[in-house]
Amino acid sequence: ARILVLHGPNLNLLGTREPQHYGHATLADINARLAARAAQAGVVLDALQSNAEHVLIERIHQAREDGTRFIIINPAAFTHTSVALRDALSAVDLPFIEVHLSNVHAREPFRQHSYFSDKAVGVICGLGPDGYLYALDQALTRVTS
Ligand code: DQA
Repeated sequence: ARILVLHGPNLNLLGTREPQHYGHATLADINARLAARAAQAGVVLDALQSNAEHVLIERIHQAREDGTRFIIINPAAFTHTSVALRDALSAVDLPFIEVHLSNVHAREPFRQHSYFSDKAVGVICGLGPDGYLYALDQALTRVTS
């Protein structure tokens, strides 16, 4: 089984980007923790970060062909703007969990609407990098049972 982790725009800057919201872990740190946990479970983890909406959309399309069984996605700012990314997830019809590092509900009002949450298996926010690990544990439970 394969699990795909997608990181949206500006998450390549984790570690230095607004640490009061996003902490000090880098994206490489987060991906390494996820890859180690998935490997223990015998599951292949693919990870992609992009600042470009079409790259994320095309990777989601590819997931339909490459044996991906579950997607973990932090759409970042596209959370609040992207009907196109939402439609891509609906089109491939793969289950996904939406993750945010920060508690988006404790921030600006425009962050409180997501184009993804009503389609997600679940949503995790405000738990920093641990949120991705909790999402992965749930994805592993679902793809290995
Ligand atoms: C984010 C929250 C979004 O509102 C923001 O645009 C991001 C990151 C998070 O992980 O907390 O870029 O998705």
